[in-house]
Amino acid sequence: MTGALQGATAGLYASARAPGKIILAGEHFVVLGAPAVSMAVNLHAFATAQATPDGELKVEANIPLSILGRGERASRPDTKELLEPFRLAARESLDSLERRKAGVSIEVECKIPIGAGLGSSAATAVAIIAATSRAYGAKLDRPRICQIAFGPESYLHGSPSGVDQATSTYGGLIQFSKPDKVKRLRLKRMPSILVCDTNVHRSTKGLVGSVVKRARSDSEAFRSRLSEVSEISASVVRALRRGDDVELGELMNRNHELLVQIGVSHPMLDKLVRAAREAGAFGAKMTGAGGGGCMIALCEDEEEAFRIGGVLRRRGGSPYLVSLDPAGVVSSTNGTVLK
Ligand code: PMV
Repeated sequence: MTGALQGATAGLYASARAPGKIILAGEHFVVLGAPAVSMAVNLHAFATAQATPDGELKVEANIPLSILGRGERASRPDTKELLEPFRLAARESLDSLERRKAGVSIEVECKIPIGAGLGSSAATAVAIIAATSRAYGAKLDRPRICQIAFGPESYLHGSPSGVDQATSTYGGLIQFSKPDKVKRLRLKRMPSILVCDTNVHRSTKGLVGSVVKRARSDSEAFRSRLSEVSEISASVVRALRRGDDVELGELMNRNHELLVQIGVSHPMLDKLVRAAREAGAFGAKMTGAGGGGCMIALCEDEEEAFRIGGVLRRRGGSPYLVSLDPAGVVSSTNGTVLK
């Protein structure tokens, strides 16, 4: 590692960009061992880092109130609390480079809605890790970035599976199994997916904790759901490869039903899921931790996604037309502005 750091320069400036994600199958059950299928999307977190080799660790974040959920705006956590996972991401990156006394000055901008199931915290952590290490002359490989991101992700989410940081780091469409198995899926045609925010925001930590508790107390029923979700994930991969939207939509519908059964959906999610199906989507489901946050709908094409998005907006949702981010985390040290 020291070799990689020989070029470290006081004040070297680096920047990084990392995408958010949607989960097509397997959220929550992935924490308990089922594979998940997820896709990086073109909503990003950005970080810049300046090395201060003998200095302090400073983090500034631009998190506009407009992208915090209503609940978070009302009980806005103090800045120190909001910034702690970001500090952890930077600190653990420096530790992994054996730069324990070094400092870094970080600026973060997150353009992914927060607390909405789109992986904003993981994307921010991944961008900080990549930028911090580049500011010290090291380009970490993807498995290492994912591993370091467990620190801040565990601080926020308790026991994360790792799917969020893996999707953000690798980009594209992946099948993921805990703790670090990533299979990239390359498709001829990408599905047209509409994302819609319920505008009801919540805490992933509480939801993941409730599922783990339920899995312990209701183990028989849980085991059967876990094996069904594992099969759904495998079938989702096959349907994606064949470009079979009808099959993929049905699998998404069934996955949503199982998430309802384990108590992580929300009436607003169920309402938007139903509305999307009635409006002609092949299938729809919540995505991410649930309890509010976002749902996704599989549409025939972009035009249909636009039309169905209009229907969901009239039902109180905030639709986003997203596309695949194929690159995952990208970083630079030459002052190139990442957009
Ligand atoms: O925090 P979210 O909403 O992006 O959801 C992450 C996915 C979960 O399966 C609910 C948790 C995990 O770590 O896998």
